[in-house]
Amino acid sequence: MKISVIGTGYVGLVTGTCFAEKGNDVLCADIDVKRIEKLNNGIAPFYEPGLEELIKKNFQKKRLTFTANIEEAVQTSDVLMIAVGTPSDEDGSTDLRYVMSVAESIGRFMTADKVVVVKSTVPVGTCEAVRAEVMRVLAERGVSYDVQIVSNPEFLREGAALEDCLYPERVIAGVQSEEARQLIISLYRPFVDDESRILVMDVYSSEMTKYAANAMLATRISFMNELSRVCELSGANIDLVKKGMGMDRRIGPHFLNAGVGYGGSCFPKDVKALIKTASNLGSPMSILQAVEDVNLQQHDHFFKKVQNYFKGELEGKTIAIWGLAFKPGTDDLREAPALRLIEKFLYYGARIRAADPIALEGARKLLSFESRVQLLDSFYEALQGADVLVIATEWPEFKGADFAQVKSMLKSPVIFDGRNIFDPVDMARQGFDYISIGKDPAFQRVVQTGSHVEISNQWLN
Ligand SMILES: NC(=O)c1ccc[n+]([C@@H]2O[C@H](COP(=O)([O-])OP(=O)(O)OC[C@H]3O[C@@H](n4cnc5c(N)ncnc54)[C@H](O)[C@@H]3O)[C@@H](O)[C@H]2O)c1
Repeated sequence: MKISVIGTGYVGLVTGTCFAEKGNDVLCADIDVKRIEKLNNGIAPFYEPGLEELIKKNFQKKRLTFTANIEEAVQTSDVLMIAVGTPSDEDGSTDLRYVMSVAESIGRFMTADKVVVVKSTVPVGTCEAVRAEVMRVLAERGVSYDVQIVSNPEFLREGAALEDCLYPERVIAGVQSEEARQLIISLYRPFVDDESRILVMDVYSSEMTKYAANAMLATRISFMNELSRVCELSGANIDLVKKGMGMDRRIGPHFLNAGVGYGGSCFPKDVKALIKTASNLGSPMSILQAVEDVNLQQHDHFFKKVQNYFKGELEGKTIAIWGLAFKPGTDDLREAPALRLIEKFLYYGARIRAADPIALEGARKLLSFESRVQLLDSFYEALQGADVLVIATEWPEFKGADFAQVKSMLKSPVIFDGRNIFDPVDMARQGFDYISIGKDPAFQRVVQTGSHVEISNQWLN
């Protein structure tokens, strides 16, 4: 099939590349000329494991091409996929200006019937608004073509985007005609082993499914984060509680990690958007307001652990930060908890020495004007002269850290782990003050005296 994907961000570029990989003829378009230049030179504009290689492969086979000419993108293909950003507006609602601008371009440039597939995450009713905008422009031009609209939200995870796109757990599509249903099935059949994984429904339900899924995942995280604070006060250990909960098949083990709070380009804005949709419809989702509040409190809660360690005096202290990206496997810094923490540390007068395996380039753009922030290529270098270490992203690289070196470089052996990646017993044995999430602060002292906590911790390993 001939497909044009409009918007070459994480979703558009990955989707376009994967459709090309499956043998389609894909033209990816973006208004960002520099981005298109990079892509035409075989350079991925962001980090996603395996993506650059797959782009090059399909580019060489001429199944994947790039353009900054939206007119060309609209006219070349019968299937047009919209994958532009849908950030939060100031009031939390979804800013649809990019989506609607693409709709306007489609109406302006189309010279034949089109199927418009909306992959961007958009509130209920947006696909209809997109179709109405295309029809409005067509009417203005005095021409008439058929426009089929399909809602096809994307569920890929940054860091595992190729796997998610090439082997989706499910494909959700909202259609308004049998013809569109058939098209979606033929588009996605090569991606699934079983056609029942392609769930076709009405457009409204499809649009809502995306928000519902992200809101549920965010809810699980906030639930665990709030529970972790109760664990800290009650003497329970959130990691053990998590394991006990996750073994219940009705609950399952995923998305139960307590931590420093969620971030990224999706959860914060999608939770806000659903809150807004619900309240606009007169049925407020108080549970989601709580999810968002708990998330913000959790960033603060973790920050206060560090602040309290220094008895409120962060002025002149140097904090080493390991991990800047909002999660491992990506260089995406949007709403990254690390950045929120850095902002707070700076506000209270601290200095920062931070390292991340791949997000440094993006971080330099955001933080280069801050004289008290040093961004370093080596994790160990970041520790040089630092008072304490804060872990903000659970990069697998950190797990194999050389703790003797960590200890020798820090002014004092103190680690604040916002992602619970180390075993507190081990850390205590290695002589660290290890402060993580959801454990009684007295935990390590108890561990060192060989009490029941050590025994219970063995179950964890
Ligand atoms: N990033 C994710 O992990 C993820 C996962 C699932 C769904 N989504 C959703 O997919 C959508 C895209 O997200 P993203 O992270 O890929 O966005 P992004 O910000 O990485 O990329 C958006 C791209 O669209 C381009 N663009 C903007 N206006 C345009 C126009 N008029 N014509 C052509 N190109 C235009 C921008 O230049 C940019 O390159 C959002 O709705 C998001 O919520 C994202």
